[in-house]
Amino acid sequence: MLRNAKWILHPENKLYEAVCFKRELDFAKKIKKATLYITSLGVYYAEIDGVRVGDFILAPGFTSRKRVQYQTYDITKMINKGSALSVSVAEGWYKGKINFGTDEGGPEKKKALKARIDILFTDGTGKTIVTDEGWLVKRDKIRYAELYDGETVDANYEDIYVNAKIYGNPPAVTVVKQQGVYVKEQEILRPLCIFTAKNGDKLIDFGQNMTGYFEIEADAHRGDRIALSVCEVLDRDGNFYNENYRDAKARFEYICHEGHNVYKPKLAFWGFRYMKIEEFPCEITASNIKAIVLHSDIKRTGYLESSSPLLNQLFSNIIWGQKGNFLDVPTDCPQRDERQGWTGDATVFSRTATFNYDVEKFFIKWLTDLKLDQEKNGHIPHIIPQTICWDWSTAEHSGAVWGDSSTIIPYQLYLTYGNKEILARQYTSMCRYIKYITEHTKEKYLWAGCEQFGDWLGLDAPAGSYRGSSNEDFIASVFYAHSTLLVAKTGKILGRRVDKYEKLYKKIVEKIRMTFTEYKTQTECALALYFNIAENKSAVANQLATMIKENGNRLKTGFVGTPYLLHALSQNGYAEVAYDLLLQEEFPSWLYSVKQGATTIWEHWDGRNDKGEFWSYRMNSFNHYAYGSVADWVYMEACGIHTVEEKPGFEEVIISPIPTDKLDCLSAKIETRHGTVSSKWYHFDGKIRYEIITPVPATIIINGKEHRVPKGTYIF
Ligand code: BGC
Repeated sequence: MLRNAKWILHPENKLYEAVCFKRELDFAKKIKKATLYITSLGVYYAEIDGVRVGDFILAPGFTSRKRVQYQTYDITKMINKGSALSVSVAEGWYKGKINFGTDEGGPEKKKALKARIDILFTDGTGKTIVTDEGWLVKRDKIRYAELYDGETVDANYEDIYVNAKIYGNPPAVTVVKQQGVYVKEQEILRPLCIFTAKNGDKLIDFGQNMTGYFEIEADAHRGDRIALSVCEVLDRDGNFYNENYRDAKARFEYICHEGHNVYKPKLAFWGFRYMKIEEFPCEITASNIKAIVLHSDIKRTGYLESSSPLLNQLFSNIIWGQKGNFLDVPTDCPQRDERQGWTGDATVFSRTATFNYDVEKFFIKWLTDLKLDQEKNGHIPHIIPQTICWDWSTAEHSGAVWGDSSTIIPYQLYLTYGNKEILARQYTSMCRYIKYITEHTKEKYLWAGCEQFGDWLGLDAPAGSYRGSSNEDFIASVFYAHSTLLVAKTGKILGRRVDKYEKLYKKIVEKIRMTFTEYKTQTECALALYFNIAENKSAVANQLATMIKENGNRLKTGFVGTPYLLHALSQNGYAEVAYDLLLQEEFPSWLYSVKQGATTIWEHWDGRNDKGEFWSYRMNSFNHYAYGSVADWVYMEACGIHTVEEKPGFEEVIISPIPTDKLDCLSAKIETRHGTVSSKWYHFDGKIRYEIITPVPATIIINGKEHRVPKGTYIF
């Protein structure tokens, strides 16, 4: 659709200095239809006569270096006499610090624009305009834009237009039609309170840790300055604290023009709850500043509610963790100098994600990038899109669980949405991943002797380490088995021959059983149970429950053990221990962070201890969704809503709730492709009352008794 359009750039392209392209759209004839096709190397903001074109924030989005999406906008009604299109472009995700600085130098990658406008006049004739040297370009009023550092704007800055230059030697990227979901403005948060901190700083609390930007409004004199920075949490003394943003400056600076200034950033985003106002030309009130929440335009589908206010806050934190980190790609965190598509985080959160929101289209795009960025030898880079120019394709950088995003996520999308097409698209990539492990392991039928992330951030980590003490070869081998099984299942669904994978799966399981004869940590026990490695499940479940009880009903697990821990317990007769963990309020637990005032999920169980001290600033995000994966236990086990593997996408459903005396009431609701499933239980007259609604044939299991029912509403 961008046929004949050329990549154009500013003749003196400078890193992080935004540029603004311009094209007059002035026609003698009357327009019947005008369509803009547009993309950029970088991020763009397009407007016609000061009115924003479309509502895709940070277009054209974040994709593999190998491709860039173009967007299509109907601009018929925006063009009038003397109109002009102007497009601001900055580096965005394309180049610079976002790539951990690995391509900051080097002139070879420059921000650029490519566009085409097709016009049909009412007299039946047409005209096509494409980007070429006829377009004008100047340095933008946005003097600096970088995703980690923020935006600097000079409202008075006026550069002169020069002719754009054709990008002589652009990097090889394929321009493809928009595949993902647009990132859009979603909600507005007004200041909850504006106050002066102990150290004299003027702060605003928006009441919610979030991802997005803000809009400021100020009556000012020409040259007055606005300067602000943001943070997620206040320190022990209630002062501004953003050391945990590491090298991300996360600032916004604006030089006012004379009169009334209204501005919201165009080419950056921030993760924050609090704002420090360093300079502002007039009084700040709740009416001249607001925070605007951005995320991919995914539809909410899942709802959890209980009789416990703390638990409800946890559910809210999980949802906000997803909102904050589903910004075109699934990110680890939205605030510090990272904000990357870390695959492991996405793997462990993906099941919860598919229940909370309709993320099918969102993940199809991301999985396409995963496929594109998969290394020649089948290795999955730890970050997708692969932005970092390091060679991570060797056995030294294996990354079980992270790489298993390539099998686990497509299969989960299939289970939740029933779309076989996703499996067909990813199947080759899935097989190549298994091949990679098989060829790189140091021991046949295990995944052993390679560098792993292990049970990342597990609390049983040796001092100074990020990796829990669970055996890394065991973890990797369990996921090797699991992914092989998923490939076998997928192949079968697609009508392929899978005996090779079925055999391999059996061999891996046998070898794991022979090699790892005992389980020493909570994570090892949970994985052995959940992934059917343990032969004597009741003994291992008992061991796990005992370990937890002896630890004061507390967990020790990290990114890998935590998502499976409660499932492993409740599936093996220890639902009450699972509830003890879910409802634990002391450190370490989900509700500990809630009691500490969290409004999102923390990266560390001990992000802040009860003395108010922070974990090292080097790795301490307060908006990391991984541990939010506990929501899938509440949907699936506590409320009992299960997908059926043979009838995926909720074409049928199994509902087997597990109530507890520790809560008065719990309910889950999922808007599926076939209608809304809901499961609620509560204590009533000394008994448990269950209210179940199913839009499809269901197997309802109450107290071990099975009821096969057609769609309808049921009370037990
Ligand atoms: C990220 C994590 C990620 C990990 C892997 C961190 O810096 O924030 O969430 O999975 O690195 O090493």
